Amino acid sequence: MATMKQLLCPSLALALLIISTSTSAQLSPDSPPSPTDITKVLEKAGHFTALLRLLRTTHMTGQILTQLKASANGLTFLAPTDAAFSTLKAGALNTLTDKQQVQLVQFHVISVYLPKPAFQTVSNPLRTIADGLNDGKFPLNVTVGGDGSIKLSTGIDEASVGTELYSDGQLAMYEVDKVLQPPSIFPPAPPPQPQKAAEEQPTSVVGSSAAPRSLINGVVEMAATVGIAALGAAVYL
Ligand SMILES: *[C@@H]1O[C@H](CO)[C@@H](O)[C@H](O)[C@H]1NC(C)=O
Repeated sequence: MATMKQLLCPSLALALLIISTSTSAQLSPDSPPSPTDITKVLEKAGHFTALLRLLRTTHMTGQILTQLKASANGLTFLAPTDAAFSTLKAGALNTLTDKQQVQLVQFHVISVYLPKPAFQTVSNPLRTIADGLNDGKFPLNVTVGGDGSIKLSTGIDEASVGTELYSDGQLAMYEVDKVLQPPSIFPPAPPPQPQKAAEEQPTSVVGSSAAPRSLINGVVEMAATVGIAALGAAVYL
């Protein structure tokens, strides 16, 4: 009996230790809050099929949630409706590269949480998570009308900010009636240029051939002094 008791006690202690460790891990105050389910919000609203498809193919939902957790200022997600996607040229999304599709989604995420009244005071241009360097490749400006209407413009198109789909102090989600088109992905149609060919400058052609010609002269001179045997080596240099 005595030996049995001695054997049981250590294993019981070990079991208790394991239970207490795992319990304290679960209750840790540092554990992140459960992620906001962007997909669920859009599915519930019901008219974001095209956006949901784009989020799936670009695997962007996870990245947005990661950025949200890392951001001290929160995020604002602009969700174009199916009607918004239907105004794009047929097949426009399919002509984009994978990277451009990701950038297009990122362009719809403003790097700060904006409750509707904050659109009045935020300064232009707005920064999105597509524009990490803020180098002007993804311009997005907001204008608020006298009637309180909020419009976003990219230089290519303009969208109205509509219904608030979600807001929790960290993430705001709004419906928009257009797909926001960044000029770096959807370049503006070039203006008609009837005199294009006549105005071309010939100077660049002369300039570009000048350097190689002097290089060849040098090689020939060198070959003359050093001898034919060195020519092969000079050409390979
Ligand atoms: C956005 O606003 C800035 C500053 O007011 C301006 O320089 C820029 O041209 C505007 N861009 C667009 C796309 O409206």
